[in-house]
Amino acid sequence: MNFDFTEDHILIQQSAKEFAQEVIAPSAVERDINAEFPAEIVKQLGALGFMGMMVSPDYGGAGLDTISYVIAMIEISKVDASVGVIMSVNNSLVCYGLEKYGTDYIKQNYLIPLAKGEKLGAFCLSEPEAGSDATNQRTTADKKDNYYFLNGMKNWITNGKNADYYLIMATTDKSKGHKGISTFLVEKGFEGFGQGKKEDKLGIRSSDTCSLTFENCKVPVENLIWEEGKGFNFAMNTLNGGRIGIAAQAIGIAEASFEAAVKYSKERKAFGSPIANLQAIQFKLSDMAIKVDCAKMLTFKSAALKDAGKPYYAEAAMAKLYSSKVAVENALDAIQVHGGYGYVREYLVERYLRDAKITEIYEGTSEIQKLVIARSLLDAK
Ligand code: CAA
Repeated sequence: MNFDFTEDHILIQQSAKEFAQEVIAPSAVERDINAEFPAEIVKQLGALGFMGMMVSPDYGGAGLDTISYVIAMIEISKVDASVGVIMSVNNSLVCYGLEKYGTDYIKQNYLIPLAKGEKLGAFCLSEPEAGSDATNQRTTADKKDNYYFLNGMKNWITNGKNADYYLIMATTDKSKGHKGISTFLVEKGFEGFGQGKKEDKLGIRSSDTCSLTFENCKVPVENLIWEEGKGFNFAMNTLNGGRIGIAAQAIGIAEASFEAAVKYSKERKAFGSPIANLQAIQFKLSDMAIKVDCAKMLTFKSAALKDAGKPYYAEAAMAKLYSSKVAVENALDAIQVHGGYGYVREYLVERYLRDAKITEIYEGTSEIQKLVIARSLLDAK
């Protein structure tokens, strides 16, 4: 077992770190306060190859492995988890699925600009009555001649306002349950496509989230992804990789919390010396460091399995479940180490807590991850 990064991985880490520190960090606080989408930063991420990291260069991507993606996601999310989720959705929920299941027409027309970061994607599974219970899709797609007509609503869509292309799960045959769900690529400008109001969120405030509506939204048959009835499998298969991305995002927050706690504990004096000398603080720092390392091991393991073409869905669920829990716990501990200063905006740790919470909710709640893990354990026996 080799725990060392390759030279290429070290270079990716350096370039992601530099970009995060120099370009993303200076405006992160302002964008959080104003809930402002980082449009220019996303364009620059695209130019650097970070928006289609695992896509083949034949389709405009960087052709890198999942380990590289995890490394970059950690560095970007350490500085701004909002940018992290924008990048994660485009890479693992949109580009991955289009490369694996899209036709050549889809790849040439949609994947290439998405992988280059010239266009932005969104993944639309959740509905008002279909969150964890994702098979309960109410959005319908009826075929007439060379078009499908979509009707319904999607909720909580990351990149909902700013995306150009949307992957929509919709029911083409209600009688078949989840085997009657299909996936469609919808452009923002398609007739009958509408956007709801932007959500005012607790955290990841500079990523945008909104609902979408479809009123006889007219989608050409060429924009069906994979085949009719495969939409739920498409969603589950892409979400497996998405969960690795969110685990990496959570690690970024957990590590940033840990580093902030170390720094502050060396600076802040109480009882005549830095609080880092107090065992109460040292125990917290030790726990935080161990948790970050354990989260990394689970997440890199799931990424390595995916790269090796082996089953990884249960490992991805474990990585996401544990890393998101650690993100929340480390952010809380970082606030505790900072005392009153941790509760105000001047120190970044209060944002870390607000940003961390969503990692336990989206791309499958912690409870859903446990269900996925338990089913895999029981099936294996
Ligand atoms: N990987 C691959 N396939 C999977 C899978 C996985 N992790 N989990 C389920 N499936 C497949 C099953 O094999 C089955 O396929 P077949 O019928 O072809 O055999 C099919 O999905 C249905 O599975 P179940 O019978 O187990 O269905 P269920 O209703 O009992 O459970 C569920 C399904 C696991 C709970 C699923 O609904 C689920 O994952 N829910 C959570 C949804 C979710 O993660 N939403 C996130 C929204 S997207 C988002 O947050 C993006 C964002 O903006 C950041």
